[in-house]
Amino acid sequence: MDIKGRIEELRKLLTTYSHEYYILDNPSVSDQEFDALLHELIRLEQENPMYFSEDSPTVKIGTTVLDKFEKVHHDVPMMSLSNAFNEDDLRTFDEKIKKEVGPVNYNVELKIDGLAGSLKYENGKLILGATRGNGVIGENITNNVKTIQSIPKTINYLDNVEVRGEIFMSKEAFNNANREREEMGLELFKNPRNAAAGSVRQLDSKIAAKRNLDMFIYNVVSPDSHNLTNHSGALLFAQNLGFNINPLSQICKNIDEVIAYIEFYTQKRNDLDYDIDGIVVKVDDLNLYDEIGYTQKSPKWAIAYKFPAEEVVTKIHKITFQVGRTGQITPVANLDPVIVQGSTVSRATLHNEDYVVEKDIRENDYVIIRKAGDIIPEVVRVVLDKRSPDSISFAMIKQCPVCGAPLTRTDSEADYYCRNDFCDAKKIEGLIHFSSRKTMNIEGLGEKIVEQFYNDGLLKTIQDIYLLHEKRDELITKEGFGVKSIDKLLENIEISKSNNLDKLIFGLGIRHVGEKVSKVIASNFTNIFDMFKVDIEDLVAIDEIGEVIAESIVQYFRDPMTRELIDDLSRFGVNLYYQSNVSLKDEFAGKTFVLTGKLEVYSRDEAKALIESFGGKVSGSVSKKTFAVVAGSDAGSKLDKANELGIKVLSEQEFKDLLDR
Ligand code: IVH
Repeated sequence: MDIKGRIEELRKLLTTYSHEYYILDNPSVSDQEFDALLHELIRLEQENPMYFSEDSPTVKIGTTVLDKFEKVHHDVPMMSLSNAFNEDDLRTFDEKIKKEVGPVNYNVELKIDGLAGSLKYENGKLILGATRGNGVIGENITNNVKTIQSIPKTINYLDNVEVRGEIFMSKEAFNNANREREEMGLELFKNPRNAAAGSVRQLDSKIAAKRNLDMFIYNVVSPDSHNLTNHSGALLFAQNLGFNINPLSQICKNIDEVIAYIEFYTQKRNDLDYDIDGIVVKVDDLNLYDEIGYTQKSPKWAIAYKFPAEEVVTKIHKITFQVGRTGQITPVANLDPVIVQGSTVSRATLHNEDYVVEKDIRENDYVIIRKAGDIIPEVVRVVLDKRSPDSISFAMIKQCPVCGAPLTRTDSEADYYCRNDFCDAKKIEGLIHFSSRKTMNIEGLGEKIVEQFYNDGLLKTIQDIYLLHEKRDELITKEGFGVKSIDKLLENIEISKSNNLDKLIFGLGIRHVGEKVSKVIASNFTNIFDMFKVDIEDLVAIDEIGEVIAESIVQYFRDPMTRELIDDLSRFGVNLYYQSNVSLKDEFAGKTFVLTGKLEVYSRDEAKALIESFGGKVSGSVSKKTFAVVAGSDAGSKLDKANELGIKVLSEQEFKDLLDR
């Protein structure tokens, strides 16, 4: 083979391999082989500059991640649907259609709870995947839709064709993704729809590829150009081209059949492996569409019936009270377990005294439970018909259920508080908060362990966390622990000392000071010592801080116990200064890193961005100048080279620890 031929061959191979690596996250060759081919190509191109091409993988590799999504214009706007909430709305819809065009067949489909997407094919090839956006302008998500297995990348049909449908995540994929996120200490996805939308909008397709998305096609654009005359036929046409269509759609001859279908799937929705939020009813005969017409936003030949939030009846067997870290007391309904929207609920918040009194919620009452915002279970109302003589009227407690201190409620507040700073419940909750992910992020010091250590007298205050290492001998003999887990915990505690100041401020649990305000304070004052001098005027001068927050902060820092705590933390070496994100991190500034192998937590581009944000550089090859090589699994030649040159090699976890410092 001549040089030109070999260059072309290498370009082809490397394009395929980098697509497998970067987009599909499923490499078919080792790093080593990939690097060897890439280096051969680089060498051949350097020696033969006349064959230079901008499309060469040597120019393009690793640049598949975009800064932001390119905008896409939808030639045919992606409309939405008008809604029906009950039988009346559906009958009115049907009457209007009949008046316009006479009786029709309807095609009824499940309304998949995901996000709308459009796919365009030219010459049988997928050339564009786009989001709906505002209906006229969407975003180009081609790289991400290419990672969805059920979407054909080529079809056996050469005319230009555009299909639309719903991109979604199955319940199983959602649960798996969240299980993984929990293990990695990442925030959980709220529901499959959010997870799907978040994944599709990942700039790094490697992340989208991991999320196991799926798509049901529900629409063929410009059906007449494909000789389609009815919607059900269009769905079959799509199916024959290899698209996934939902198998549960059905033709209904009249609105009564539509209503029966809706009733059936209202019952069955929890048995499906994907979320649906309603039923879509469409006139089947495409020839009638223009006659029936459109409004500004939606076609008049279709309507979406939306399910009401699922409400379930169960019994409150006891009302208990929970003490939060600020001492806030929340009444909680302990329920006979029931399944609501797919998960078992045995406790529901009753918010506060006013809420319970207003709704007259009692122990032994049957109540209606609903998931507020589809997540947090709440008691909607009492089923009064079922009230039994043994119902027990609600009485707000007057003393803290844990420490017995009198509870107080000021006029401006809905909640009662335990004001005893020595209340065990408050202290435990406070310690849990201090070590939790969004604050000091001490892995291994979760709820159960804090509670156990607290009750064993090992951990009563924040200071005790940083003195735990003195009790190592005792800790390693505790049941359920060992040298390894205790040393890991102690190491994590040590690492937490380098956290940025906003994490510490948030961790202190100052009333009204959440994640955002903590950042604001940290960045405005840059060190914690200045907080002792601050007064209310200084604080309210900052945009995001109002009177109530300011007062709480001043009060906290005037407390002599706070001074003591901060002095102790300072002695322990806990960082009390703020480093803004653009400021350099010693571990990274001016240093060159090389990434190799398959990383699990970060994509290559995330890792690169992080290194760069702390002032470091990322290089493609290992040399004497390399500070460290971050080696994922299956690392190849770069790792060998690092070992050969005696360059520091970090596992992904070690790299993560360095970043988290
Ligand atoms: S038809 C012009 N069919 O619901 C008609 N939509 O507002 C276009 N959806 O944005 C929509 N399942 O994302 C249709 N079987 C289905 C659907 C469906 C889910 C979504 C779609 C649209 C929204 C309606």
